[in-house]
Amino acid sequence: MAENEIKDTNFVEGHDFDGIRELDNPPPPWIMWVLYLTIFWSALYMVHYHVFKQGDLQEQEYVNEVAEADALLAQRNAEAQKTPSVVLKADEKIALGKELYVQKACSACHGSLGEGNAVGPNLTDKYWLHGNGEADIVKSIKFGFPTKGMIPYSDQLSDDKIEAIAYYIKNELYGSNPPNAKLSEGEMIE
Ligand code: HEC
Repeated sequence: MAENEIKDTNFVEGHDFDGIRELDNPPPPWIMWVLYLTIFWSALYMVHYHVFKQGDLQEQEYVNEVAEADALLAQRNAEAQKTPSVVLKADEKIALGKELYVQKACSACHGSLGEGNAVGPNLTDKYWLHGNGEADIVKSIKFGFPTKGMIPYSDQLSDDKIEAIAYYIKNELYGSNPPNAKLSEGEMIE
């Protein structure tokens, strides 16, 4: 019990009411330092923001951010208006698709005219293994058929380029009836 005994010196002089006395129990020094620091900081804050008016207060910061966002939006809208001239015309798309078809060696497995060969299927007839909508063809090129030997092209061709190849296949190779066409595979799609 001895260590829990309250020493006389810990009582605040003169704070004695009906035998109830007040203990002088100061907070630890570190918490006092935190308090002094915040007081010091608030003085700096006041001088910086309210006396010399150097920084923007929250309200002004908000106004600035909205103005910045408005400017960005206006810029994006202006860019969006310009886009139509960048979109490829049909013949440019076919030319690009044809170039990529050769460059990416699709012809090695599908023939230079899409007629197909011992490895890959014919891309010119009405029979398709994986669909002949443009989106189906895009999907075939993008993801390939790794188990059948066709790699996915999504990591070496951008979406635009893949779409151009699909467009070329759909609008130029498909229905072209080349010589030496490989026998039909898959389902007939009109
Ligand atoms: C190494 C050989 C190989 C190369 C190179 C190759 N393919 Fe293929 N491709 C195949 C095979 C094999 C299939 C059939 C997959 C199956 O049987 O499911 C196929 C299927 C396809 C199909 C789906 C045909 C259908 O009937 O639905 C399309 C479209 C296609 N390839 C386009 C391309 C394009 C475009 C390229 C070039 C970017 C390319 N391929 C490169 C082997 C190849």
